[in-house]
Amino acid sequence: MAGIRKRTGKKSFTAIFIFCFVLLLAGCGSGTGGDVVPQEEMESSEPDEGDIVIGISQVGSESDWRTTNTEAYLNTFTEEKGYYLIFEDGQQKQENQVKALRKFILKGVDYIVLDPIVETGWDAVLKEAKDANIPVIIADRNVLVEDESLYICRVGSDFMQEGRNAGEWLAKNLELRGRENTDINIVTLQGTLGSTAQLGRTLGFAEVMEKHPNWNMLEYQSGDFTQAKAYEVMEYFLDTYDDIDVVISENDNMAFGAIEAIKEARLRLGRNGDIMIISFDAVRDALLLVQKGEIAADFECNPITAPLVEEIIQKLERGEAVEKVQYVEETYFDYKMDIEMLLENRTY
Ligand code: AHR
Repeated sequence: MAGIRKRTGKKSFTAIFIFCFVLLLAGCGSGTGGDVVPQEEMESSEPDEGDIVIGISQVGSESDWRTTNTEAYLNTFTEEKGYYLIFEDGQQKQENQVKALRKFILKGVDYIVLDPIVETGWDAVLKEAKDANIPVIIADRNVLVEDESLYICRVGSDFMQEGRNAGEWLAKNLELRGRENTDINIVTLQGTLGSTAQLGRTLGFAEVMEKHPNWNMLEYQSGDFTQAKAYEVMEYFLDTYDDIDVVISENDNMAFGAIEAIKEARLRLGRNGDIMIISFDAVRDALLLVQKGEIAADFECNPITAPLVEEIIQKLERGEAVEKVQYVEETYFDYKMDIEMLLENRTY
């Protein structure tokens, strides 16, 4: 466990005014990426004496999942609870995230929370944080660094398990339909290449695929976790292959783009149609499509990591040890479930 910095009263900070950002995010949940308020227009403020100052470097605003994930941070680390939050949107670029981390280090924040876009390329900046004695918590996706003591812990999804679960679900579903031995043509819309969510889901599914020689992966292509890009990739898949049975979409926003393209091609969606979509995230709009049968199964990626991050920070504040890896609880949804009832108790 890294040492904990002592807070020494007021520091000179220019805070990014978080709610402006959230209001903007709320309007851009369909994967096109959102505008960011120019920094000079944002409100300036100072942390109060005793506030816990946290710098969060977020991936971007590429998906509905991300919007929920960001909102959870903002609702968790509130002024009322004694937090002072500096939120930086990386806009899907690692260089922006590295800059943000350096800014946090310069400002001398108490904690850094990093939701890294990709796994590699963090060694140098995390070493700078460690040298400045600032504990770093990795949230959502993971980092791959030579020295794991550069960060305190990681909290997020077991993406590989999500991929395996999707594969196992497909195997069972094909068996139920008596198609376990027929040729099954699959295409995969991958997430941002090199991100843990992409790597885990691709590898987990591939593990199951190895047990099924009749499954043919026609092509993998990245849709960068966005609806717009996935729409284009799906159009290309449909132009190139005339017998796609299954689309693996590594997130819901890409499934939305794929559905648009498939409908335009006048193909029937669903387990008994021409093409079956398996997706990841299980955001509200996607679950409504599960209910309609347009998405066959959706494997949950829990976006509510913020309360766990808070728990970790509170433990560190008390000088307690924390576990190095903490996975969030996740499930899946398919046509057999009562989606309407499930949505009643779901916050995202
Ligand atoms: O890292 C989590 C992934 O990133 C989610 O599946 C996706 O929607 C998001 O953009």
